[in-house]
Amino acid sequence: MSYEVTIEPTGDVIEVEDGQTILQAALRQGVWLPFACGHGTCGTCKVQVLEGFADLGEASTFALMEVERDEGKVLACCCYPESDLVIEADIDVDPDFLGYPVEDYTATVESVTPLSPTILGIRLQLDRDMQFQAGQYINLDIPDVGTRAFSIANPPSQSNIVELHVRLVSEGKGTSWLHNELAVGDSIELSGPYGQFFVRSSDSQDMIFVAGGSGLSSPESMILDLLEQGETRQLYLFQGARNIPELYHRDKFEQLATEHDNFHYIPALSDEDTLGEWSGFKGYVNDAVKHHFNGKCSGHKAYMCGPPPMIDATITTLMQARLFERDIYMERFLTAADGTDESSRSALFKRI
Ligand code: FES
Repeated sequence: MSYEVTIEPTGDVIEVEDGQTILQAALRQGVWLPFACGHGTCGTCKVQVLEGFADLGEASTFALMEVERDEGKVLACCCYPESDLVIEADIDVDPDFLGYPVEDYTATVESVTPLSPTILGIRLQLDRDMQFQAGQYINLDIPDVGTRAFSIANPPSQSNIVELHVRLVSEGKGTSWLHNELAVGDSIELSGPYGQFFVRSSDSQDMIFVAGGSGLSSPESMILDLLEQGETRQLYLFQGARNIPELYHRDKFEQLATEHDNFHYIPALSDEDTLGEWSGFKGYVNDAVKHHFNGKCSGHKAYMCGPPPMIDATITTLMQARLFERDIYMERFLTAADGTDESSRSALFKRI
């Protein structure tokens, strides 16, 4: 049994199978609907039902208030159609979004490599190619834990591979399992690609990438992809870490900077007590951006990926340096410790 859902104002029509939410069906059919938490608590996926009936599912009363329910609003991420529907969604489709459909994959663990004292590199071989945009993420099914989101670190040209950078989160069941239990040869299920963090290729500005911790994954994929495509705009990568052992893939980016005149690599280390002979930038990565551009970043697009404090500090720096919200894109990594439900994904995206 399935129902037809027509999405206005685009006129897209999707088939929603029994047991599927509107959001699941849309993403799997290559139709973009806005969402963030994916489980009924943030309200980002709210849509208006114009015709038909639906089960509201697990929508929280905070994300979908009584008055909104009375008005016929539903949350697409947890709503199940009970008839054919016509819905109206606030869709702002970005011209650079390619909208590859979400699919399920079975992957085999090809390698597991410590990248730093806290970050593990996991390379997965997929059972078939996956089309994705650099910067997007996958949901990994972790046995007895649930689904966790991780950004893809390899470029889309390696379409049968998924590389992940996984930081060990204190008391995080998912990342602990990956660090301690996952072994070469294991089989693991995943779905993807997801996310709206990708390079706006139609813009002509030079690009600033700011990465903190394992948030290097998305910028790494984006930069490798751009350089493979022969990008000629100036690309600046600012990588923040506490100390030298945490500054992983430094050799790789230093090598790329020698090979490409338009790629610039600026690492920043913040734990000043441990830096010894370090001759690079000492301080937080947002201060490295400010220092490098002398407080003036206008004429650039900025892409940031990392933990909330780094993102927030960098937004402030970039706005003081004359960038506006339209110039800034981000992937904000959240963990249970940042206030998400333990059963939810560990990383979410949001605009400012
Ligand atoms: Fe649906 Fe958050 S409530 S995405």
